[in-house]
Amino acid sequence: MSVQIAPSILAADFSNLQREVEMLNSSPADWIHVDIMDGVFVPNISFGIPVTKAIHAHAKKPLDVHLMIVNPDQYLQAFAEAGAAVLTVHVEACTHLHRTLQAIKNLGIKAGVAVNPHTPVEVLSEVIQDIDLVCVMSVNPGFGGQKFISNSLSKVSRLKNLILSKKAHTLIEVDGGVTTENAGNLIHAGADILVAGSFVFTSTDPSKTIAELKVAVPKFEV
Ligand code: DX5
Ligand code: ZN
Repeated sequence: MSVQIAPSILAADFSNLQREVEMLNSSPADWIHVDIMDGVFVPNISFGIPVTKAIHAHAKKPLDVHLMIVNPDQYLQAFAEAGAAVLTVHVEACTHLHRTLQAIKNLGIKAGVAVNPHTPVEVLSEVIQDIDLVCVMSVNPGFGGQKFISNSLSKVSRLKNLILSKKAHTLIEVDGGVTTENAGNLIHAGADILVAGSFVFTSTDPSKTIAELKVAVPKFEV
């Protein structure tokens, strides 16, 4: 499977959301990444359920909903009904992660778990077979347009090894500061899905930028 690209709508022009979603519909994007921030788990507020519904009304691609919120259990059903195909919660926000994963799956959608930059991937070792997708945060969540944290690359490799050693089928997503500079190395390390916000939406031709991310080649230091 070639790498999938999930542009983050957080970096889109919110006053023209329908146009932005239609642009993604006709682009090589695979998923649409939807960032939900509550101002408590992260120091920023984005948007919530009605806006997710509005995106879903125009989207022809699966919505990859990233919940950066406390008490995610309270809102799983609402986001599933709003159109999430993948619902990702933060391990740092879940006291009973196994229960939360089952609750997401019982809604008939894919269950994802995001890990902040300081969280070792090993924390997921006992539940990795229950996780459809692990989202490796390569920036501290809360804002688009931040610089990629370079340790995330070796973290993707460690996660890939964990998945293989447990014979799991979990996908690896990388979120934050993704560009064509680091995409090739991330793909080489085992990333299956790359989220890209500002790099896509600030480019002059977002569709072309998405295509370029898909074929990015590793850049090794000599
Ligand atoms: C960060 C969000 C990311 C963000 C990515 O809190 O979870 O999905 O939108 O944006 P860029 O690609 O600009 O770092
Ligand atoms: Zn995100």
